[in-house]
Amino acid sequence: MHALIPKPLAAARSGALKGRVRVPGDKSISHRALIFGALATGTTRIRGLLEAEDVINTAKAVTALGAPAGKLGDVWKVLGRGVGGFVEPQGPLDFGNSGTGTRLMMGAIAGNPIAVRMTGDASLSRRPMRRVLGPLTQMGLEIVEAGKETLPLTLRGTSDLVPIVYPLPVPSAQVKSAVLIAGLHAAGETTIVEHEATRDHTERMLRFFGADVRSEDRDGATHITVKGDAELTGRDVTVPGDPSSAAFLACAAIIVPGSDVTIEGVLVNPTRTGLYTTLREMGGDITFLNERDEGGEPVADVRVRASRLKGVHVPAARAPSMIDEYPVLAAIAAFADGETRMDGLAELKVKESDRLAATAAGLAANGVAARIDGDMLTVQGAGEMPGGGIVETHLDHRIAMAFLTAGLASVAPVTVDDTTMIATSFPEFRSLMENLGAGFVEAKGK
Ligand code: S3P
Repeated sequence: MHALIPKPLAAARSGALKGRVRVPGDKSISHRALIFGALATGTTRIRGLLEAEDVINTAKAVTALGAPAGKLGDVWKVLGRGVGGFVEPQGPLDFGNSGTGTRLMMGAIAGNPIAVRMTGDASLSRRPMRRVLGPLTQMGLEIVEAGKETLPLTLRGTSDLVPIVYPLPVPSAQVKSAVLIAGLHAAGETTIVEHEATRDHTERMLRFFGADVRSEDRDGATHITVKGDAELTGRDVTVPGDPSSAAFLACAAIIVPGSDVTIEGVLVNPTRTGLYTTLREMGGDITFLNERDEGGEPVADVRVRASRLKGVHVPAARAPSMIDEYPVLAAIAAFADGETRMDGLAELKVKESDRLAATAAGLAANGVAARIDGDMLTVQGAGEMPGGGIVETHLDHRIAMAFLTAGLASVAPVTVDDTTMIATSFPEFRSLMENLGAGFVEAKGK
């Protein structure tokens, strides 16, 4: 549907961005709150759930599996089925654009003796599912179309899942989470061995719901073990603001001269704050105010003031903590003085689009020298972005928002060919930016 009626938009050089703003709830935590609510017994109440297409698709999926999720007043409620209590859905589950929803739900479905057809849009249907299906089939999940590794797929779960010890071959929180969620259903202990830390919301929230989850550092790796035959209890969850959405506002405030923006209630879990660390190293004026704990996650108000940036080297080890923020970092690296080198970006190639290629192409289209060498992206900062180009977004919300952000300070406007996918993660992007003073104009595509 989305691809049929593309909605281009241009961002033009704007006056200083000013104000206080709240971004919608974190996408990762929102998916997990719905899924764990469905796996719990009793009712889970969720405040601040991200109401974007990706998360709504997960809400529809758990509802179709017998755990109705809906909104009453300001609060989302999920009526849990208990671990292993899903019913076979009447029709296919459509996950739209969401890799997280799909992969986490594969883990949740694996431990139920039901057949489930899973579908998605053109972008999701190209994304690799083997990384999750590999360990889940070892545990006992069956792929009805044996050998197939992309959506659409029909999966058949079992009530006899076998626990495994699984060293993560890629630094992916989605793979880790899918296996841990399946492990809740297995008879015995399931262990993930993680060499590079990835976001730990699953571990934190599963504990909060009453699961037995242990993390131990041993031999240079973290061993995360979940006890099977688990019983989760419905909880009240408050979802903090999404740091990946806040990233666009923060980056806009950095590059638009005279800006001073405070983003309230942002998740600052250290497994998610690599962008903020990097911006500080580049000379960005960023302060975490009023740091506090909300529902087991660290939260702060993030104040960002316009800053002169210098190019830096972003080490590969930091990639998992800012994996979704590279497109916007690369786009604003054009405004830095000197070269910014970003290492270890292999995972960027398998996101909603090949973000490495899409980012480099978007920069080139707007007069910025950028180079890909293997898994490394280098952006030549010249203190400004010439702009004037049209960015191809390839059904990728973050490519669209990254370049609209850069366009707010570029010499000529930056146009993106389609903004419809922004609704998958951050429907309020445009209005929140405009409230701060950002200037967008409807545009014509190619
Ligand atoms: C997510 C993990 C990351 C991230 C995605 C959300 C999650 O993906 O890119 O937006 O909620 O677990 P990978 O686990 O594939 O790196």
